[in-house]
Amino acid sequence: MARRRQWSSGGVAAAAVLGLLSVLCAGHPAPGGFPLQPRFYEHTCPQMQAIVGAIVARAHAEDPRMAASLLRLHFHDCFVQGCDASVLLDADGSGRFVTEKRSNPNRDSLRGFEVIDEIKAAVEHACPRVVSCADIVAVAARDSVVLTGGPGWEVPLGRRDSLTASLSGSNNLIPAPNDSLPTIIGKFANQGLDVVDLVALSGGHTIGDSRCVSFRQRLYGQNNNGQVDRTLNPAYAAELRGRCPRSDGDQNLFALDPASQFRFDTSTTTTSSP
Ligand code: HEM
Repeated sequence: MARRRQWSSGGVAAAAVLGLLSVLCAGHPAPGGFPLQPRFYEHTCPQMQAIVGAIVARAHAEDPRMAASLLRLHFHDCFVQGCDASVLLDADGSGRFVTEKRSNPNRDSLRGFEVIDEIKAAVEHACPRVVSCADIVAVAARDSVVLTGGPGWEVPLGRRDSLTASLSGSNNLIPAPNDSLPTIIGKFANQGLDVVDLVALSGGHTIGDSRCVSFRQRLYGQNNNGQVDRTLNPAYAAELRGRCPRSDGDQNLFALDPASQFRFDTSTTTTSSP
């Protein structure tokens, strides 16, 4: 993750979200400690961005939710050990580390691994042993935003891939849906991101889905006392309860932005009480 801001503060709109996403990308230094830079593969793998773009576009055409999933994959990668592709690693059986795929925020939830695998295979075929998976994840996230209607940005490149993952880091560093605001602010601060960054990056929820289990307690109370969160629009809460019952349907999916589920835009559905 970047430890400093690289954008001018202004409106918290899609442009800001995207500026921040390019900062999310600026994590680990290139080999030899050189700063990341967009033309890192200009001579060694000039096809890299085209390959990523083509496969992401096909995956998005087959499954429109995939764009959201690839964006979130980048976020969950970057919050643990920096943007180093640690989120992709499976346990190697030696007990050296436990995969982040099993963490609370990722298990039964994080998606897009097979798309990254496909891109990596194609890139390896074109330019063996040159392009890092962390860079592929970062470019795929940018392309996903563009494909869903958001603006693009230049992705700084040259990240190195991690050889280890951190299950505890994934559990503890990525914000949970029931974290308090101060806790979430603290978790962003850990990454060198401030409150403006937090608000802007949360705009990533303009696309994609949430499972019932992730927000059930807002429908039935922190202590399962049946009390709906009073900040929720009552009609919307009733609609959600219809498909997110108190004790079933954990995996039922709901659009995060029901009015434009697959559009990276600045409109939001009113979900709170007037
Ligand atoms: C601010 C703290 C955040 C919290 C507490 C949070 C929490 C969540 C939760 C609970 C879900 C639903 C997961 C599920 O039920 O399977 C989700 C989905 C999603 N989040 Fe976040 N998130 C945060 C920040 C971000 C950021 C910074 C981004 C990217 C810029 C992002 C992008 C997404 C996307 C795109 C989805 C939908 C993924 C899909 O449909 O596969 N989130 N988030």
